[in-house]
Amino acid sequence: MALLTELLLQPVSAGTLLGVVLMLLLVVYLLSSDSQQAWEEPPGPKPLPILGNILALDLNRPYLSLLSMSKEYGSVFTVYFGAKKVVVLAGYQTVKQALVNRAEEFGDRDINPIFYDFNKGYGILFSNGENWKEMRRFCLAMLREFGMAKRGSEEKIIEETCYLREMFEQFKGKPFDTTQPVNYAVSNIISAIVYGSRFEYNDPLFKDMVHRANEIIKLTGSASIQLYNMFPWLRCFLKNWKLIMINYKQDLKEVNKLVDGLQKTLNPRDCRGLVDCFLVRKQNAEKFGEKNTPYHETNLLYTISNLFAAGTDTTATTLRWGLLLMAKYPHVQDRVQEEIDQVVGDRQPVVEDRKNLPYTDAVIHEIQRVANIVPMSLPHTTACDVHFQGFFIKKGTCVLPLLTSVLRDEKEWETPNTFNPAHFLDEQGRFVKREASMPFSAGRRVCLGESLAKMELFLFFTSLLQHFRFTPPPGVSEDQLDLTPAVGFTLNPSPHELCAINRA
Ligand code: HEM
Repeated sequence: MALLTELLLQPVSAGTLLGVVLMLLLVVYLLSSDSQQAWEEPPGPKPLPILGNILALDLNRPYLSLLSMSKEYGSVFTVYFGAKKVVVLAGYQTVKQALVNRAEEFGDRDINPIFYDFNKGYGILFSNGENWKEMRRFCLAMLREFGMAKRGSEEKIIEETCYLREMFEQFKGKPFDTTQPVNYAVSNIISAIVYGSRFEYNDPLFKDMVHRANEIIKLTGSASIQLYNMFPWLRCFLKNWKLIMINYKQDLKEVNKLVDGLQKTLNPRDCRGLVDCFLVRKQNAEKFGEKNTPYHETNLLYTISNLFAAGTDTTATTLRWGLLLMAKYPHVQDRVQEEIDQVVGDRQPVVEDRKNLPYTDAVIHEIQRVANIVPMSLPHTTACDVHFQGFFIKKGTCVLPLLTSVLRDEKEWETPNTFNPAHFLDEQGRFVKREASMPFSAGRRVCLGESLAKMELFLFFTSLLQHFRFTPPPGVSEDQLDLTPAVGFTLNPSPHELCAINRA
C-alpha cells in the first residue's frame, strides 16, 4: 500500500497509471475474495421471505428433515425456521469439534419464545451467564450431596425398584401401558433429591404433577409450538400454547405449596434435600443483605421445575424404550437374563455389578443410542463470532447439535439403523466405550444428570429384567411391535402395551 501511495504522488505516464489501476483492482479483488471466504456462511436450502425453509421441514419431526438435509449440504449448514436463522451441526466429528473442542464459543443456550415463557431466563436449562453458572454449580453439588451421601442415590433407586416391581406385579402378566408406573418411579428419585421424600404412586397430587409434566413435554414438541417459536405473535391463536401455560402455572402453584411446607419445617442443620439447602442460602443472602444473589424464589421454582422436566421424562422414556426393545428382540432379552442370573442370581443388583455384566451394559448403551430421545439436543447459541470449519457463524446464532446424526453416524457405527448391542462389545465380549455414544450431548452444557440417569437406567433395567419376562400382548407378534417414535419434544415410544410375566 505504501508503494502505491508513493506511486500515486509521482507525476505518471498513461502506461504507469494503467498499471497502477490494474494493481489496485487486483488488490481489491484479492481483499474482497479473501474476506468473502472468511465470511462465508454455512450453505443451506434457499429460504423464502418470512417462511424461511419451513415448507421443507416436517415440523412434527424436524430432526428427520434436518438429517436428510445434512446429506445434501454437509455437516455444517444453515436453515431458516421462519425468519430465524439456525446453524445445524451434523455427524460425530463436527458435533464433538464444536461442543467439546470449542466449548466456550458454542456453549450458550438459545432461549426461544417457549423456553422464555417457561423460565424468563432463570433456572438452569434455559438460562445463561452468571445465573446459569451458579445454578448449575449448586445443582451439581446437590446431586453429589444427596446422591452420594449417607442415603445415596443407589439406595434410593433400589428402594424405588421394589415399589415399581410391586406395581408391575399387580397386572399379573396381563398387557398394560408402562408409561405411568415407570414415570412415577423415576419422578420419585428426583423428588427424593429435591424434596427429601418420595410420593405414593396413588397420591392424586403426585399423579397430576407427573401427568402435567408429560403433557407439557409432549405439547412442546408439537408443530404448533414450533410455529410459535418462529412467529411468537401467533400465540393467542394456538390451543397448545394455552394448554401448556395452564399446565405449567398449575405446576408452579403446586411446587410453591411444597416449598412452603418445607420452609415451615426447615432445620438449617439438617437439610433434607436440595430445596432445604437453597432456602438456607436464601436466608443467609437476605441476612447479609447480598444484592444480586441468585438464591431467590424465582430461581428456586424454575430450578425445581427444570430438574423434574429434564430428569423424569428422559430417563423414564429411555427405560420404556428398553422394555419395548426387549419384547421385540427376545434373543437379546434371553442373553441379558442369562447374564443377570449367572452374575447376580436372586439378590438385588447393585451398581458394583455393572462391571461384571458387560452384555447388559452394552444393551443399555445400545438402547440409548437407538432410542435417541433428545434428537436435536437443546438449542445452543454462539457466545461470540465464530469461524468454524471454514464458515463464519455470527454471535447469537442458534445452533442445533443434531444428536440423531451422531447416534446414527454411518462413519461411526457398523449398523447405524439396527438395534445391535455388539456396537458396545469387543471380540471377547467385553464392554467397550464408544466416543460417538452421545445421548447426553457433550461439552459445557452436557446433561447435568448424566451420572444419576446412568445409575437409574442400570438399576431399574437389571432389577426389572431379573424379575420379569417382557413380551408383546397375546396375539401381537414381535414384528408388530412398532418402533416409530411418537411426536414430542423428547422421543417417546408410540402408545403400546406389554406383558410383564413373573419369572419366578
Ligand atoms: C436418559 C436420561 C437423560 C438424557 C438422555 C438426557 C439428555 C440431555 C441432553 C441431550 C441435554 C442437553 C445438553 C445440551 O444442551 O447440549 C440435557 C440437559 C440437561 N439435563 Fe439431561 N438427560 C437425561 C437425564 C437427566 C436427569 C436425570 C437430570 C436431572 C438430574 C437431567 C438434567 C439436565 C439438566 C439440568 C440439563 C441442562 C444443562 C444445562 O443447560 O447446563 N437430565 N440432558
